[in-house]
Amino acid sequence: MVKIFLDTANIDEIREAASWGVLDGVTTNPTLVAKSGRKWGEVIQDILALVDGPISLEVTTTDADDMIKQGRQLAKLHKNVVVKIQMTTEGLKAIRTLSKEGVRINTTLIFSANQAILAAKAGAKYVSPFIGRLDDQGQEGMQVIREIVEIFKNYDWDCQVLVASIRHPLHVIEAAKLGADVVTMPFEVLKKMTQHTLTDVGLKRFLEDWKKVPQ
Ligand code: E4P
Repeated sequence: MVKIFLDTANIDEIREAASWGVLDGVTTNPTLVAKSGRKWGEVIQDILALVDGPISLEVTTTDADDMIKQGRQLAKLHKNVVVKIQMTTEGLKAIRTLSKEGVRINTTLIFSANQAILAAKAGAKYVSPFIGRLDDQGQEGMQVIREIVEIFKNYDWDCQVLVASIRHPLHVIEAAKLGADVVTMPFEVLKKMTQHTLTDVGLKRFLEDWKKVPQ
């Protein structure tokens, strides 16, 4: 079953989605935390207290040694923390070291199957291809997911395909059809997944007809 993560640092959205019983985890990034307008430490503590599932927290350093230090600190915060590391050569060095220490890594800013292969080989537990940003520049993001899913299956790699930068519900359907392990999305997309106009029309009719039933 495809796992559903919320791609946000907005605690109200996370609380609401968690109450629906369909939320498996959360991904954050510096942009999303900045958007929340709150202090990093406070937001993260709130998320960790609300969701019992993988919570991706991103390093904000670019040199391997610094990434390793920051990654260790993040991992120490909670058992559910997954350290998000950018797909660079320095990032690969950090992934290798941290994964050997048992730290779970989500490699972010993946835009090609080649990058995913390298991240998985370095020891990442998740790769995050950003499909919406590829679509934005006229390249089919879902094609990259297709390739990564096929390659990982060929080798039975212990690395999950986490489809990121999702923009609309069709992205979710396509990713699930391809057998991607995880989809992470903004709250608005998750909300759209719950909706259908025929559900609204049908419910209205049921409620109106119920009033006609003698009690
Ligand atoms: C993934 O983990 C990223 O936070 C995210 O999906 C980026 O998406 P965006 O292109 O909407 O910023």
